[in-house]
Amino acid sequence: MENALIETQDGSHSLLSGVFGVSYHSRYGAIQESSHVFIRAGLHWKALQTKQLRILEIGFGTGLNAYLTLLETQRLDLKVHYESIEAYPISIGQAAALNYPKILESESPTLFMELHTAPIGTVAPVTTNFHLLKEQILFHDIQYAGEFDLVYYDAFAPDAQPDLWEEPMLKKIYDALKPGGIMVTYCAKGYVKRNLKTVGFQVEALPGPPGKREMTRCLKS
Ligand SMILES: C[S@@+](CC[C@H](N)C(=O)[O-])C[C@H]1O[C@@H](n2cnc3c(N)ncnc32)[C@H](O)[C@@H]1O
Repeated sequence: MENALIETQDGSHSLLSGVFGVSYHSRYGAIQESSHVFIRAGLHWKALQTKQLRILEIGFGTGLNAYLTLLETQRLDLKVHYESIEAYPISIGQAAALNYPKILESESPTLFMELHTAPIGTVAPVTTNFHLLKEQILFHDIQYAGEFDLVYYDAFAPDAQPDLWEEPMLKKIYDALKPGGIMVTYCAKGYVKRNLKTVGFQVEALPGPPGKREMTRCLKS
């Protein structure tokens, strides 16, 4: 089933998933949500400690988190190795319809599509400061060990994908992080935070983006 293009309240596009029946981002604002949760609470926080980061994203989707991160590498002179897992990639035509490069007024708008056309399974040097490795695989089928400084956990919400918020999947994130690494997610459900604590994380509730009271940041100490 095809995804439908929708406009969120900050004017940025999102998709309504044909497979899961839910939107890829907050209806209050896709760019607003991604900037708040993944960039400000995740990337900026971690960049206070190191300018060279290995980032893992669960759910490449529209590529918005990757694009915002790439733009931040240029602004803050960060060096990022970005791995992104996506089981159900969107089509190139659908990516081309998204208005992120236009809204973000990037000096290099073609970079957004370069993220989408980058090969699967090979590291693509999209810029000197941003290298991308995309994998088309289910998160269930991968296992990392202490490789990442930062994880963007951006699967669909627990109502749509309950198994992705249970302990076995959350333990995979814990294992993927280096000591001192962090995971950020928009989800702040009580039982998810309890599961995160059970797998070993120190869990912090932070103010959420507009329309959402809280989000979650977790530390692997
Ligand atoms: C909430 S959307 C967000 C995607 C992306 N970060 C964005 O900003 O557009 C969740 C994404 O996770 C992907 N996904 C869902 N289940 C998955 C799984 N088990 N393994 C890998 N990717 C998955 C979906 O296809 C979707 O692209």
